[in-house]
Amino acid sequence: MTVPPIDPFHAIGISTIAHRMAAEGRDIIHMEFGQPSTGAPREAIAAAHRVLDSDAMGYWESMPLKARIARHYRDSYGVDIQPEQVILTCGASPAFVLALGCCFAPGARVALARPGYVAYRNALRALHLHPVEIACGPAERFQLTAAAVAALDPAPDGLIVASPANPTGTILPAEEMQAIVRVCRARGIRIVSDEIYHGLSYIDPARCILQDDPEALVVNSFSKYFSMAGWRLGWLVVPPSLIDAARARMGNLFLTPPSLSQHAGLVAFDCRDELEGHVRTYRHNRDLMLDRLPPMGLNRIAPPDGAFYIYADIGHLTDDSLAFCTRLLADTGIATAPGLDFDPVDGHRFMRFSFAVSTDRVEEALARMASWFDAAHARRP
Ligand SMILES: Cc1ncc(COP(=O)(O)O)c(C=O)c1O
Repeated sequence: MTVPPIDPFHAIGISTIAHRMAAEGRDIIHMEFGQPSTGAPREAIAAAHRVLDSDAMGYWESMPLKARIARHYRDSYGVDIQPEQVILTCGASPAFVLALGCCFAPGARVALARPGYVAYRNALRALHLHPVEIACGPAERFQLTAAAVAALDPAPDGLIVASPANPTGTILPAEEMQAIVRVCRARGIRIVSDEIYHGLSYIDPARCILQDDPEALVVNSFSKYFSMAGWRLGWLVVPPSLIDAARARMGNLFLTPPSLSQHAGLVAFDCRDELEGHVRTYRHNRDLMLDRLPPMGLNRIAPPDGAFYIYADIGHLTDDSLAFCTRLLADTGIATAPGLDFDPVDGHRFMRFSFAVSTDRVEEALARMASWFDAAHARRP
């Protein structure tokens, strides 16, 4: 078996250039990564300060946090899970490694939407699994459909569902999600649902896959809604039959997540006022961008239902999204992610903006972009 090749994450390259420019004194607006510019909730930080003085910070699995997460599923979705079904992880990224490792043998085929989060494709390859990409365009609002999953021949072993999705922020309507679950059940396809953007929605809240499929695995994290990306804390919910397999993998591959983060994460669950304030900022930023991008010619956008991204078609301006984003950064100081990261086939004509920054920075970015996009149109033959 050969070592599978893994694609680079181009937004990291853009970010490296952006940081170099900032060190040279340029004012950079960071819209390349999906990371809140706000820190952890104030109360969570205060709790972390307190435990640093009193806790030896050994390997640890916080039972209160597992119980709190189980309660969250009951309160938010009406789903009963046991705390033992919650595996605490160092973010959603290792939760994926556990989920995929528990469910699929090397060589298994796992379907996913294209465009989609870059690491799905690459994590699958790294684990010697085969990504089966389903092309999802504007007609489906870049989301999976039950019909597309039903049409896969042969049936894949697994399916990754992401709602709200990265890079588009679109949410699967409840009926479509239920129809996808029915198709998967009938065809023996195991679902892994990435719910990392739950809590960040501008329409009805996204549905949890466990409301429809208790055999699904759910990946989640403190990186987005809770504004704690660098604390490296997340979780995986597994059905009872997979608890031992998931725990064994967590213990052997990663041991435990950081103790400090688990203490802070427990407190963060009850910092709703502060966190909902961030959601209001994102909503405002979203509306500003949806208002001001179309006059710049960026009018082929599926309005994001959630998350904090705008995925825009720039095919009228370029067929090289990486070069385009690199030039935008050099000329304006605005760092963005090229569509190539999310879609190896059509991504050369898309770009993604993250609006998880302050409204002032969004205003400033829009002001800088207005004339730049005029000039980009003029440059285009
Ligand atoms: C859809 C999606 N899933 C997972 C992750 C990884 O998140 P974490 O920081 O929790 O590892 C990201 C990060 O941007 C993401 O966008």
